[in-house]
Order: sequence, then C-alpha cells, then structure tokens
Amino acid sequence: MNIITVIGSGLIGRSWAMVFVSGGYRVKIYDNKPGQAANCINEIQKQMMELQEVGMLRGQLNATQQIALLSSHDDLEQALQGAFFVQECVFEKLDVKQNLFRDVERLVSGDVILSSSTSCLVPSAVFSMVQNRCRCLVSHPVNPPYYVKLVELVPHPDTMTATVDKTHALMTKVGQVPVRLRKEIDGFALNRVQAAIIAESWRLVQDGIISVQDIDLVMSEGLGMRYAFIGPMETMHLNAPEGLGDYLKRYGDGFQRVLRSFGPVPDFSAEDAKNVVSEMNELIPNDEQNLSARRERRDHLLMGLSRLKKDK
Ligand SMILES: NC(=O)c1ccc[n+]([C@@H]2O[C@H](COP(=O)([O-])OP(=O)(O)OC[C@H]3O[C@@H](n4cnc5c(N)ncnc54)[C@H](O)[C@@H]3O)[C@@H](O)[C@H]2O)c1
Ligand SMILES: *[C@@H]1O[C@H](CO)[C@@H](O)[C@H](O)[C@H]1NC(C)=O
Ligand SMILES: *[C@@H]1O[C@H](CO)[C@@H](O)[C@H](O)[C@H]1NC(C)=O
Repeated sequence: MNIITVIGSGLIGRSWAMVFVSGGYRVKIYDNKPGQAANCINEIQKQMMELQEVGMLRGQLNATQQIALLSSHDDLEQALQGAFFVQECVFEKLDVKQNLFRDVERLVSGDVILSSSTSCLVPSAVFSMVQNRCRCLVSHPVNPPYYVKLVELVPHPDTMTATVDKTHALMTKVGQVPVRLRKEIDGFALNRVQAAIIAESWRLVQDGIISVQDIDLVMSEGLGMRYAFIGPMETMHLNAPEGLGDYLKRYGDGFQRVLRSFGPVPDFSAEDAKNVVSEMNELIPNDEQNLSARRERRDHLLMGLSRLKKDK
C-alpha cells in the first residue's frame, strides 16, 4: 500500500510527485504526451538537488532516495498497477477529466481512491462518468504545493466519509495541510475568498480610490502579515478584549455598513479595465523576463515563509 499514481506531469503533477515521495511513497507518473513523464522526473531531480543544497528538501529521506522512488510511464494501465491512490493533474478541461476517470476506473479495483486536482470544476461534474463514486473526491492544491501546503478536500455527493478520512490522513502524513468542505460548491473555499478579495480590490482601483501598487501593499504589508499565521476568524477573536462575541458587538454594525456599500460584480472585460492592466504592466512589465524574475522572487519568499512557519 505504498504506491501513488500521478496522472498529468505539468506544473501541478510535478509538485504532487515531489510531495508524495517526500513522505516515502513510491510515485508512478503518467502523461499522455510521450516522453513528458520522463522529462518531469529530470526536472524533479534538478529541483530536489537544489532544495537539498539550501536545506529545504522536505521529508526524512535525502534527494537521492526520494528520486529513486519515482518512475515514469507512457502506459496508463502500467502506471496504475499497484496504486492505492490516484492524483489526477491533467488539463483543466471537463471532458478530458471525465474521460480519463472513466478509463482509470476500468483499470483499478473498487477500493482505489480517485482524486482530482481541479481548481474550478465541482466533483459531481468531474466524476460523472465514474460508476462507483464513493471513492472519488477533489484534492485541490495551491500553487506551489511544495511551499503552500493547503489542500481542499471536496466530496462528491456520493463520496464516503472513509474516502475523505483516508485522504486527510495521507495528506497530513506527507506534510500538507488538508481542510474538509462538507459539500461541493463552485470555487470551493479558497477561490471564493480569493474572488471576494479580488472583487473589492478591483473596485477600489477602478473607482479611483487607490492605486494598483497601494492595494497590493494593503494585503502584503497589512492583512497578509497576520493571515500567514491566523485566519479572519481568529483575527476577530483576538481583536476585542472578550473575544469574537465582543468583537461583533463592537464592530458588527460597522462591517455591515461597509458590506452594504460594496459595488456590483466587476466587468473585467470592460473598456476601463484596460487602465488597471496598463497600470500593472507599468509596475511589472509583462514580458517573459520580468514575469519569471517576479515568479522566482515569489517562490523564494514563500520558501522563507514556509521555513518560518515550520518553527512557529
Ligand atoms: N497551476 C495552478 O496554479 C493550479 C493550482 C491548483 C490546481 N491546479 C489544477 O491542476 C491541474 C493541472 O494543472 P497544471 O497547471 O499542472 O497544468 P499543465 O498544463 O502544466 O499540465 C497538464 C499536464 O497534463 C497532461 N495531460 C493532458 N491530458 C492528459 C490526459 N488525458 N492523460 C494524461 N495526461 C494528460 C499534459 O500533457 C500536461 O503535461 C488542473 O486541473 C488545474 O486546474 C492548477
Ligand atoms: C542518501 O542516503 C543513503 C542511505 O542512508 C546513503 O547511502 C547516500 O549516500 C545518501 N546520499 C546523499 C547524497 O547524501
Ligand atoms: C523588465 O522591464 C524593464 C522595463 O521594460 C526592462 O528594462 C528590463 O530589462 C526587463 N527585464 C528584467 C529582467 O528586469
């Protein structure tokens, strides 16, 4: 019971493979683009050596031992042999995922857990072509999963509690931080909260209240400072002498007043959205060089933050 199959070896498949081998599991990687899974292992090898050098390799095993747990497969049936858990990471296209899970179900026994990485599709859509859906769920990671450890576990209406429990235990064992949604909902939890933040940030910029640069500082130097360690609920609980109940008595009306003044859903395709885009492009030019430099910076900073959280 120690083999996990990762299907799709792009950005997310590669990260999942690294996370699972860090927990000592054997990982079989499959991609339908020939040679892609083998490429992925080469990339992982490079990355793990670098991580080992800077002391950021996860898990108890060294890089050489972790790399030895990986294998690549261009054949789906072979890739699924012996697996107790399947993590799907293919393109975010409903029909691709539906057909894939239909094929996978025919190749594995009934107790194998089928898990999708989908960001935006609900489980009842993704697993509609699977017969036995009690062992299906979404395990939605956050990019990059190696440093950002949250995983949202989202059940299909038919998913057994045991499926979610086993996945929760697996994710915990490999060092991720799983959370459970009790039922499916569009956007899950993370992207719904993210959408709310994006919408109000967008309106404030669009309405000429604040600049693109400054609204990002509101998050990175303000709210984000505590949100890396405590969430909005605990934040309220700590911010009044007698906790959450007291906080709501003091500030509840104020928050309701502000919430009632929120504008409509932004029209991201509107003509004046162009102004927001060009303001952003002026701050960080959207050429490949500038963007990848900023992505590297982001990953480097997240690595530092995850180091800090480790000994919190
Ligand atoms: N990138 C993110 O930030 C992020 C975050 C969370 C979740 N996700 C989800 O993870 C999934 C993968 O995203 P990604 O960014 O890694 O995409 P990607 O395009 O980098 O990789 C997809 C890989 O799947 C392979 N593939 C496509 N169809 C296949 C099939 N039928 N069988 C086997 N392999 C197939 C492709 O060859 C490619 O290597 C998506 O569902 C996405 O929504 C992405
Ligand atoms: C990794 O660990 C194994 C087993 O302990 C050991 O034989 C090997 O030399 C180690 N490799 C590196 C690069 O540290
Ligand atoms: C980023 O954009 C600026 C301005 O267009 C440019 O001078 C610079 O060379 C670009 N590349 C990097 C890596 O900063």
